[in-house]
Amino acid sequence: MIIRKSQREIAKMQAANQIVARTHALLREKIAPGITTAELDAMAEEFIKQEGGQPSFKGYRGYPASVCLSINEEVVHGIPSSNKSLKDGDIVSIDIGVFYQGFHGDAARTVGVGEISNKAEQLLETTRQALDVGIEEAVIGNHLTDISHAIQEFVEGRGYSVVKQYVGHGIGRDMHEDPQIPNFGPPGKGAKLKEGMTFAIEPMVNVGDFAVKTKDDDWTVVTVDGSLSAHWEDSIAITKDSPLIMSRLTD
Ligand code: MF3
Ligand code: CO
Repeated sequence: MIIRKSQREIAKMQAANQIVARTHALLREKIAPGITTAELDAMAEEFIKQEGGQPSFKGYRGYPASVCLSINEEVVHGIPSSNKSLKDGDIVSIDIGVFYQGFHGDAARTVGVGEISNKAEQLLETTRQALDVGIEEAVIGNHLTDISHAIQEFVEGRGYSVVKQYVGHGIGRDMHEDPQIPNFGPPGKGAKLKEGMTFAIEPMVNVGDFAVKTKDDDWTVVTVDGSLSAHWEDSIAITKDSPLIMSRLTD
């Protein structure tokens, strides 16, 4: 069942998501060659708590950290570690969830460390744009998979592949609510979109094949072929007008 939110509830979700957005801004400033992902995780946790929130991911199904940091061929759910330091030329996917005033916010960005290759830059740009293409379809009267289809067409049209094993989701009082939002598939299927629906749309894009696997730590998802992968996610609300992107900075 898709839980629709009132305007008051959406305002609270936006507040949670603004903490997510500010945490992203903080980590982006700190990202540089030499810093470890554990250091970034600690900074994020401290900041989120200082803002009055809680890191949504910590303890979720036993997840051991506050944010997910996934480097290069790591797709999602990379566990921060003091043994993992960022290097010039790496790309790092930063996924942050915040619980605040009863609601979750969730957003991801992939950024370069120092100077990155043209190939990596193009992957990041394509993934960022794929999210925008999906969000554009999140309007009243469309069907759920219009979002999915638009993302797949865009990504594959540029010669990349979309990850099929992980999908976007409804979000609200729970981090994962109905519906699941694949980044692929035929258009015109699934629920009809209505005002007050709140979604986390999150394309994961690979340079090579779409196949992914989970590493021995039971969390870190990597591409099977070792190719680079990027992840971009925003939490949005369907409104009478254009979609409200709750997880982008408003000021
Ligand atoms: N943003 C991810 C998601 O939507 C992160 C959750 S995984 C966690 O599923 F375990 F780290 F929480
Ligand atoms: Co998510």
